[in-house]
Amino acid sequence: MKEQLYDIKRRATEELSKISTIQDLDAVRIRFLGKKGELTSVLRGMGALSPEERPVIGQLANEIRTFIEERIDEVKKELGEKELERKLRSEYIDVTMPGRRRYLGKKHPLTLVLDEIKEVFIGMGFEIAEGPEIELDYYNFEALNTPKNHPARDVQDTFYITDEILLRTQTSPVQVRVMENRRPPIRIICPGRVYRSDAVDATHSPIFHQVEGLVVDKGVTMGDLIGTLKVFARSLFGEKTEIRLRPHHFPFTEPSAEVDVSCWACGGSGCRVCKGEGWIEILGAGMVHPRVLEMCSIDPEVYSGFAFGLGVERTAMGRFNIDDMRLLYENDIRFLSQF
Ligand code: PHE
Repeated sequence: MKEQLYDIKRRATEELSKISTIQDLDAVRIRFLGKKGELTSVLRGMGALSPEERPVIGQLANEIRTFIEERIDEVKKELGEKELERKLRSEYIDVTMPGRRRYLGKKHPLTLVLDEIKEVFIGMGFEIAEGPEIELDYYNFEALNTPKNHPARDVQDTFYITDEILLRTQTSPVQVRVMENRRPPIRIICPGRVYRSDAVDATHSPIFHQVEGLVVDKGVTMGDLIGTLKVFARSLFGEKTEIRLRPHHFPFTEPSAEVDVSCWACGGSGCRVCKGEGWIEILGAGMVHPRVLEMCSIDPEVYSGFAFGLGVERTAMGRFNIDDMRLLYENDIRFLSQF
């Protein structure tokens, strides 16, 4: 029996010296020390020993068990150290290496001008309003004094969804939605996307952006409109900018005007950007038509107002000297990173 015990000790020692993983270590422990392990099965034979031999063998067995347990603990510690070392080596960070650069995103030029536009009007006490892009014919045309068969409908090639539902062709329907819901004084701008069935070219896109403006109060005049637009034009295009109103027609304003700003490139003397005109058209405007006020239950005898609709793409192209509208939609990073 002594022989058997020493043999276990020898083999356990030998196997433990070859261990390289925690799993192998467990297997060795179970094989020699487990409930069905070798040491246990040897001890089972103790019954056959004489009473003098029993304590001697018992003591030897305990010593060997302790010896193997200690060896296992040592090997476990060594394995842990090796593992830690391997980890440290594989996760080594060279702090002297140059860092990986993180590139910051930028605002799109349309967002940049929109931010500027909002800031100017908020500074003058305007609030931001919003309305749906999928709109009722009623708000886009009817309530804006543009009944069916009105010739002005032809100018704006409309995407109809049903007879009564369409993609708004302008932000003007938001004027009506605001006036239906609140009483004067009203001072809002409404930035938003609009849709017209136009072919894409350097100055057209079927989806583009407008900023609508609406002011309704007692005693609002054309002078207020001109003053407001001047402040706007000068803060976007520079202090020397002039504006010019040309008579025009919109069904929902009377009188109506198209508004030009003096060319941001040449200052008015005529150049390639303004095609020799000295002026560039950026918005439509006018005094809110009495019938539009009436349809929103605002008494035109008491109140008056002005409205304007501004092309955001046009404004951005002017502000940043962009000569092709398509650049604004193509998401070419080389273009966008310039702003
Ligand atoms: N909605 C008009 C357009 O899209 C612009 C406009 C707005 C004109 C408000 C007058 C008043 O052309």
